[in-house]
Amino acid sequence: MHILLMGPPGAGKGTQAERLVDEYKIPHISTGDMFRAAVKQGTELGKEAKRYMDAGGLVPDVVTIGIVREGLSKPECRKGFILDGFPRTTEQAEALDDILKDAGIRLTAVVNIEVPDSDLVDRVTGRRICKSCGATYHVTFNPPKVEGVCDKCGGSLYQRDDDKEATVKNRLKAYHSQTEPLIGYYKKQGVYMEIDGTQAIDKVYADVKTGLEERAGR
Ligand code: AP5
Ligand code: MG
Ligand code: ZN
Repeated sequence: MHILLMGPPGAGKGTQAERLVDEYKIPHISTGDMFRAAVKQGTELGKEAKRYMDAGGLVPDVVTIGIVREGLSKPECRKGFILDGFPRTTEQAEALDDILKDAGIRLTAVVNIEVPDSDLVDRVTGRRICKSCGATYHVTFNPPKVEGVCDKCGGSLYQRDDDKEATVKNRLKAYHSQTEPLIGYYKKQGVYMEIDGTQAIDKVYADVKTGLEERAGR
């Protein structure tokens, strides 16, 4: 399975990716997670990425394409991957086409998780993430058993720096102007699949899985 997860901020890409990883045992490549790791380590890449992330804008294409190229060159990606949050611009999509062509890989599907903007601000501002294992929760929609503590590993939960209301609004703008046009790009390639992301997490996952297996079996 070579899966590309698309959708606006807070649509549930990371949440669905966690389940896909458990099910298919393939690597999860999230550009957002890679940038946050670089910020935490204080690297030059992290310093540069943070400026854009804090403003709710996109990190420049050259930087982003470089880290994805490196991530996808790992041998474990040959049997499958879940790309989450990449590509987000036409230039990134074209670069990905080249990378995949060179590796002889065809995408199984581009899964777009659709959620209206009106739901997204609550989703993003209520999100909490485990410091130790990265699991994602929501204070109302998917709360941990004990407040502030991860169910899976007991780690403490935190809120992302860019999950403030004002920043989320900028991230939504960036999505609509720069990323949404990729829907047409992937429809033309015949790999596009749309999922109703307003449903409960389990139902979204069931739809994703059914759609993917239908396509993989073709
Ligand atoms: P990134 O980390 O990718 O953020 P994003 O795209 O804004 O998406 P999120 O991670 O916020 O949302 P998600 O869809 O993963 O939702 P989640 O599952 O967590 O990118 C961050 C920044 O990095 C960007 O702004 C940019 O600056 C930079 N960047 C990254 N990639 C880049 C690229 N390719 N090019 C340039 N710059 C890039 O769910 C959200 C919440 O909702 C959670 O609390 C969850 O529990 C809850 N939830 C999930 N599903 C449901 C459901 N079905 N019902 C109710 N609640 C739900
Ligand atoms: Mg995410
Ligand atoms: Zn944890």
